[in-house]
Amino acid sequence: MSDPTAVLQAKPPRPQKSSPKPATLKRREPNASYQRRPDAQNSIAQAKAAVSSGSAKRGHGIPPRVLTFLGVSALTISMYCGYLYTSYTKEVSKAQSLNVPRDVSDRYNTTASTFDADVEISEKAMGLGKKRRDLVQMARGNVLEVSCGTGRNLPFYELGERRGIDNDGRAGVVGCRTVTFLDLSPQMIAITKEKFEKLHPAFSEVAFQAGDAGSVGPPTIARPGSASETLPPYFDTILQTMGLCSMPDPSATLRHLGSITEPTRGRILLLEHGRSHYDWLNRILDNLAPAHADRHGCWWNRDIGAIVRESGLEIVEEKRWHMGTTWRYVLRPKQDVEKPKS
Ligand SMILES: C[S@@+](CC[C@H](N)C(=O)[O-])C[C@H]1O[C@@H](n2cnc3c(N)ncnc32)[C@H](O)[C@@H]1O
Repeated sequence: MSDPTAVLQAKPPRPQKSSPKPATLKRREPNASYQRRPDAQNSIAQAKAAVSSGSAKRGHGIPPRVLTFLGVSALTISMYCGYLYTSYTKEVSKAQSLNVPRDVSDRYNTTASTFDADVEISEKAMGLGKKRRDLVQMARGNVLEVSCGTGRNLPFYELGERRGIDNDGRAGVVGCRTVTFLDLSPQMIAITKEKFEKLHPAFSEVAFQAGDAGSVGPPTIARPGSASETLPPYFDTILQTMGLCSMPDPSATLRHLGSITEPTRGRILLLEHGRSHYDWLNRILDNLAPAHADRHGCWWNRDIGAIVRESGLEIVEEKRWHMGTTWRYVLRPKQDVEKPKS
């Protein structure tokens, strides 16, 4: 074996600093032989070996650091998915073992104080504020909001009657003349009342009732200064948002609401949540429904369309969002079709 240091020793001496010469590029003679440094020789030999073994194929192109990063990310994601799946199956078996009654509406008495904080983020993410606004602004005349909860629709009411163009494009009186808020939970209705008084201190044509939407009566607020006026037998608008999920018999409740809605121009406005367009999502909702109902007082897997059809009310408008889980309805009492006389 040759001594590698011999090559270093054979290097030409450096030019002396005291007599600097202008730098000139020497042209290398085509056949001039030169000696490579041993470390350079090693690198070349390694590269040749890699090429011949195929590990440095052209076109691979992904730097090792990126490959490492992708590998670690894939591992983390698969571990997280595994964790989610295990938690989901645990939750499902827990949910399925529960014996939850159909009527879970009493849960709101204990969750009232945290309700707003609990739903705030998901409502924002789903853009529900705009959907609430669009629906509530259709309310006019004597209005009843059932299952009003903590009053999440309060900011959107147009209070006070005025002349304008109504939802059917007709000139007439728009805005709310009176508003009655109703909720089964006294704790929830107390929060609505407190919020309303802060938001609309000057509006006095308002009532707050703790009671069942399935048996609520007609309006109880008379026009101010006219004590002799008989109260109207119907509401012009009945509004409910996210309420059908909490009732033991939602179709019967809707049917009752239809009976206290003005028969020709009266409307029932609903914004609800329930089953999706997709089977896979419905399976998840079904699997976890007992636990969700037990905790939050809401059956999130209900078929809102079927409930509405069963109520017998007439559908004026129907819309769905969020993979079909958010439902909006404009309904009215069934119009009696006059049969032609023979
Ligand atoms: C999911 S919360 C919805 C609250 C509110 N409407 C909203 O959009 O945020 C359901 C509400 O329905 C009320 N509720 C349940 N059953 C009811 C019934 N039979 N009559 C009136 N309110 C009822 C509950 O007390 C609760 O406040």
